[in-house]
Amino acid sequence: MKTKMIAPSILSADFLHLADEIDAICEAKADFVHIDVMDGLFVPNLTFGPFIIKQIKSISNIPLDVHLMIENPENWIDKYIQAGAEILSVHLEAAHHLNRTINKIKELKTKACVSINPSTPPQNLEYVLEMLDMVLVMSVNPGFGGQKYIDNTDRKIEWLNNERIKMGYNYLIEVDGGVNENNINRLSKLGVDVFVAGSAIFSKTNYKEIIEKFRRLM
Ligand code: DX5
Ligand code: ZN
Repeated sequence: MKTKMIAPSILSADFLHLADEIDAICEAKADFVHIDVMDGLFVPNLTFGPFIIKQIKSISNIPLDVHLMIENPENWIDKYIQAGAEILSVHLEAAHHLNRTINKIKELKTKACVSINPSTPPQNLEYVLEMLDMVLVMSVNPGFGGQKYIDNTDRKIEWLNNERIKMGYNYLIEVDGGVNENNINRLSKLGVDVFVAGSAIFSKTNYKEIIEKFRRLM
């Protein structure tokens, strides 16, 4: 996998033309489709489940990065992997037996990622970091697109970057929420590898242009 990747979040896509939106981001050479699964419990919003993800998988020629914002994610892992998730993220705050959950994802030959909310210290991940393919740092409170980046996320990214250098770990660092052309360069310098962007991409008419701009900046 190359480092420095772009994962458009389809939460901000036009759902009446979802197939066209997926085609457009594939065409624009995005690296992943970022899919936000919300259960109305862990976060105050509802989106979609495995059935829709399976449909997206059938037309996407780039891998699916599935972000589970759901309670008890361990009960759903098989279904999201069967639906086509290549990377599966569970929230630290939602998983009661995180070590077991990560192992289960890896046993199913899928990249394992743990996501942390803005109020969660990255240090809470210390005892699972060596198992992870990716850490997803939420830079807004999860549930909605179009929010403002929370500034102290910078410090969390810095800690995760220093820790992987110090310990020789291989996880990627992904940031999600409020990413745009004004902060992507700074985030990249701090050590972010995967940039999720919803409104900053889908609010534009030309996705290729904005994705290319991101790549120049990151
Ligand atoms: C929020 C989601 C994000 C969201 C990002 O809960 O996890 O992926 O779509 O949207 P923007 O880029 O608009 O902040
Ligand atoms: Zn997300």
